[in-house]
Amino acid sequence: MRLPSRVKLVEVGPRDGLQNEKQLVPTAVKVALVHRLQDAGLRDIELTSFVSPKWVPQMADNAQLMAAIARRPGVRYSVLTPNLQGFEAALALEPAFWPDEIVVFGAASEAFSQRNINCSIAQSMERFRPVVEAARARSIHVRGAMSCAVGCPLEGEVAPERVGFLAGLMKDIGVQHIGVCDTIGVGTPTKVQRALEATLAHFDIDDVSGHFHDTYGQALANTLASLEMGVWQFDASVSGLGGCPYAKGATGNVATEDLVYMLHGMDIATGIDLGQLVEAGQFISDFLQRIPGSRAATALRARRGSEARP
Ligand code: HMG
Ligand code: MG
Repeated sequence: MRLPSRVKLVEVGPRDGLQNEKQLVPTAVKVALVHRLQDAGLRDIELTSFVSPKWVPQMADNAQLMAAIARRPGVRYSVLTPNLQGFEAALALEPAFWPDEIVVFGAASEAFSQRNINCSIAQSMERFRPVVEAARARSIHVRGAMSCAVGCPLEGEVAPERVGFLAGLMKDIGVQHIGVCDTIGVGTPTKVQRALEATLAHFDIDDVSGHFHDTYGQALANTLASLEMGVWQFDASVSGLGGCPYAKGATGNVATEDLVYMLHGMDIATGIDLGQLVEAGQFISDFLQRIPGSRAATALRARRGSEARP
C-alpha cells in the first residue's frame, strides 16, 4: 500500500460549517475565522455560497465577506455558484475580490437534486454549463461536487453507476475537479471506494477529492479508504461543523483537526499547524456556544490543561 506523502485539505468550515447554523453569524466573526484558518496553514478555503438568501440566510453576506478577507498569497478561495445569477453576483465586486475557484454542486440522486437546488439532474447541467464556461473563460478554476454519492436522505442507497453517470456529465460540461460527497455520512469504506472507482472512470486521480460528513462516525475510515486508492485531496470543516439544510439529520463534516491529527500521525504532510487549528476551532465554537466537535482538539486541550497543572 503506497500512501501519498502529502495531502491537500480544503477547509469548508466557513461555508458548509456555518450554512446550517440557525443563529446568524456576523460577517466579522466569519472573517476572523477565515483569518485564523489561513494563519494555521490552510491553503484552500471555501468561503461562502452565492445562493438564494431565502433558501440559505446564513450565506446572505457573501459579497461582504469576500470583500472583507485579507487575502494571503498562495491561498485559493472558493465559493459555491449553482447558477449564472450566483456566478455573476460572485464577480460583481472588483477582480481583487473574485473567487479563485467556483463550485457547482449536483447530486447523484434525483430527489436530492430537486430538494437542494430545485431542479432535476439534467436541468442542473444546463444551469451549470454556462457557469463553467464563464468561469473558465476568466481562468477561474471549476470544481464540481457530487452530493449523495453513497446515500440519499430521500432515496436511500445510491448505486455507484449513478455516481459514474453524474461524474461523466460533470466532465462533459468542463468541470475540472470533482468531489465525491457523502452528504449524510452514511458511507462505509468499501461503499466509498465503489463511488470513487465510478468517478475515476471519468476523472484523473489528481482531480478527485473526498467530502465526508461524519454522521455515523465513518469519515476518518472513509478517508483512509480513499487514501489507499491514491486520493490525496479532502474537504474538512474546523471543529466538525456543518451539514446541509436540505439533508435532515446529517451532521458535520469530518473535523479538520481530527484529519490533520490522523495524517500527521501517518507522516503525511498537510502544511497545517495543528495547535493553531485547534485555536481556530475553539474560537468559532466559543462564538456558537458549542463544545468543539473535534475529538483530537478535545484530547489536545485536556492534555495541555493537565500539563499546565502543578
Ligand atoms: P430557484 O428557485 O430554482 O431559482 O433556486 P430561480 O432562478 O427560479 O429564482 C427564484 C428566486 O431565487 C428568485 O428570487 C431569484 O432571484 C433567486 P425572487 O424573484 O423569488 O426574489 N435566485 C438567487 N438569489 C441569489 N443567488 C442566486 C440565485 N438564484 C436564484 N444564485 C437555487 C435555485 C439553487 C438558487 C436555490 O435552490 C438555492 O439557493 N438553493 C440552496 C442550495 C444550497 O445552498 N444548498 C446547500 C449547499 S450544497 C451542500 O451543502 C452539499 C455539499 O456540501 C456537498 C455534500 O455534502 O453533499 C456541497
Ligand atoms: Mg457538505
